[in-house]
Amino acid sequence: MTSLAFNPDFTFGAATASFQIEGASTEDGRVPSIWDTFCATPGKVRGGDTGEVACDHYHRMPQDVALMRELGLQAYRFSTAWPRIVPAHGEVNQAGLDFYSRLVDELLSNGIKPWLTLYHWDLPQYEQDRGGWTNRDVAYRFADYAGVMYEALGDRVDIWTTLNEPWCSAFLGYSSGEHAPGHQDGAEALAAAHHLLLGHGLTVQRLRALGLDRPKQLGITLNPNTIHAADPADERDLDARRRHDALRNRIWLEPLFNGKYPADLIADMGDLWPAELIHGGDLELISQPIDVLGVNFYNGETIAADPGADVESPGAPHPRTGDTKGVSRDLPLTAMGWEVHAPDFTELLVQLDREWTRPNGTYLVVTENGAAYDDVPDEDGFVLDDGRLEYYCQHIAAVRDAVEQGADVRGYLAWSLLDNFEWAWGYEKRFGIVRVDYDTQQRTPKASARWYADLIQAQPANHAEE
Ligand code: GCO
Repeated sequence: MTSLAFNPDFTFGAATASFQIEGASTEDGRVPSIWDTFCATPGKVRGGDTGEVACDHYHRMPQDVALMRELGLQAYRFSTAWPRIVPAHGEVNQAGLDFYSRLVDELLSNGIKPWLTLYHWDLPQYEQDRGGWTNRDVAYRFADYAGVMYEALGDRVDIWTTLNEPWCSAFLGYSSGEHAPGHQDGAEALAAAHHLLLGHGLTVQRLRALGLDRPKQLGITLNPNTIHAADPADERDLDARRRHDALRNRIWLEPLFNGKYPADLIADMGDLWPAELIHGGDLELISQPIDVLGVNFYNGETIAADPGADVESPGAPHPRTGDTKGVSRDLPLTAMGWEVHAPDFTELLVQLDREWTRPNGTYLVVTENGAAYDDVPDEDGFVLDDGRLEYYCQHIAAVRDAVEQGADVRGYLAWSLLDNFEWAWGYEKRFGIVRVDYDTQQRTPKASARWYADLIQAQPANHAEE
């Protein structure tokens, strides 16, 4: 365990997201989000699961914070639900603000740093009815909602994230259709990507104007990936890799850090590229300096060319990649079918630091990392989750390796504190370090949670005064 020592100001914590844990979906003035609509659409979410109850966190928040304290978490990353805060244009729902205000106070009084994400995919349905992220105006509405949140909580919350994984919002929401709103249109996905980035930029501008300056921290969380070419000696595989890297990674990193979209991406997308939607000044807004880049990492991927196949790729996340394919590396898999290979994580962090964040004076925090396994509880609800524990052990070691190689990574947040609503998978896939029995809402820390608590307790920061 001591081999996993990090320097004293490194922060360990855990993350969740509003729709995945809160429940209370019709209470205290919350209006429907696109995920409520998606859940109610037959065939979209496994087992017809919904967010109506979820982990009932809305009613159990103080107990959940007590659990965080028991585990010794130093930070808690949560998201606020736009449909709880802005029930209609120009309106603010005080009851929604009050819930998050109580959460923040509860965290602070337990010595846990609140980390607030403004958007983790629960767009109000009334915004989707106006086109959702394909409508430029939604970016402005997002900044308005962000301003409301900051005015309510900016005095107590020091770390603010604009968007969580806009790749998923754009490409799973509008191209593959696996996520709400479930569209399958590559041009819409690219339009959504630009408007999400614009929403980020407008929010950075708004929160800075409202006084969000250092030592407070502002950033965005992406899910960039390590992408390998199946055969690095084959030009066609290298080009396939380049195209996926552009859609997964550089479509976000290049505008955020260099104020432009990648030229090769624009060329690859051809007439799908939304040139007319990118207004003068947009990229200046998008590339305003941020303090922290959040990185969510689960697994790397390997891509090969598929010569002769049609380039069009309807129903795939990435438009115009039909002549490429993912390749398995015969690695161990999680219950999601995702490959386990921690060196990919080290490689990603080192590369992000070197090529993107460090040159811009931005540091990295791992805002999500974790794994789903098919947990088997004993009669007390305890889960001996060796697979997950091993995953954490390897991936936290991978973060330490990245730090040793010089990457400026300042924290690690496990995904997730609780088993929760895993989007299109419903409640079937469990990512929690704490088990949730959905019949009784009983919480039981798994072996991985105990291991994580010990790891945090053993950090030099906890022994500074000894
Ligand atoms: C993510 C999400 C989480 C998922 C997790 C596991 O940002 O992708 O933040 O909501 O539950 O990634 O798939």
